[in-house]
Amino acid sequence: MPEPILQLRNVSKSFGGVAANVDVSFDVARGEILGLIGPNGAGKTTCFNAMTGVYRPTSGQVLLEGQKLGKRKKHQITQLGIARTFQNIRLFGEMTALENVVVGTDARHKTSVVGALIRSPRHQREEREAVDRASALLEFVGIADRAADKARNLPYGYQRRLEIARALATEPKLLCLDEPAAGFNPTEKEELMGLIRKIRDDGYTVLLIEHDMRLVMGVTDRIVVLEFGKKIAEGLPANIRENPAVIAAYLGVPDDGAA
Ligand SMILES: Nc1ncnc2c1ncn2[C@@H]1O[C@H](COP(=O)(O)OP(=O)(O)O)[C@@H](O)[C@H]1O
Ligand SMILES: [Mg+2]
Repeated sequence: MPEPILQLRNVSKSFGGVAANVDVSFDVARGEILGLIGPNGAGKTTCFNAMTGVYRPTSGQVLLEGQKLGKRKKHQITQLGIARTFQNIRLFGEMTALENVVVGTDARHKTSVVGALIRSPRHQREEREAVDRASALLEFVGIADRAADKARNLPYGYQRRLEIARALATEPKLLCLDEPAAGFNPTEKEELMGLIRKIRDDGYTVLLIEHDMRLVMGVTDRIVVLEFGKKIAEGLPANIRENPAVIAAYLGVPDDGAA
């Protein structure tokens, strides 16, 4: 068995009396699309927060390529290779689409502050490369036609894709998407599935939080299910679909439910 790219080992996280994650363990294999599902409040986003340095787990460990994330800060974890998008879009609204992605590439920048201030040749070259790469990423996610528009003026679906482009700009080993299809119509969801597959085929590993069962079943290789902070199931989409505990957890929640 090759080493998993990411491991959650007995991760627990409490907020006061609320146990958001309880002893959660799962692996993400290199090159897979892993779905993380569960009813509203199940602790999915909390897992992402533990993996990206927003919170430290109350107990347990997150490992990237066998290395404990420990006390590392958000930007250090970005540099190690985990990128994410947010359930509620977080873009720089007054910056253009292109600039939003260039900011993402900055997370990888190597020149010093001094190099930037004196606009050293190396810095200028890196800037050009960042813009080229950002343009290519806008093309890749299908929004290059609006590269010069302010992010806040972009249609909603473009903003969601822009978040993905910005996350990819950090050249992550693992891309974590938190409900990227929220608010999408069926056509947009279909297109997003295509994009997620394309991202994986490009060599990335994807961890996907998504509510739409059709989308999750259609695009993931494996699925982990949380309920009330605990992992209740893990397996192939076909098995998860038939799993009584999963069905019970979702009972009364429509497939495209907002929950
Ligand atoms: N910063 C926080 N402070 C207090 N409670 C939180 C915080 N973040 C999450 N929670 C609680 O933890 C539980 C899991 O939340 P979350 O991980 O956002 O669930 P999901 O993403 O699966 O909908 C919920 O009960 C939520 O209210
Ligand atoms: Mg969430």
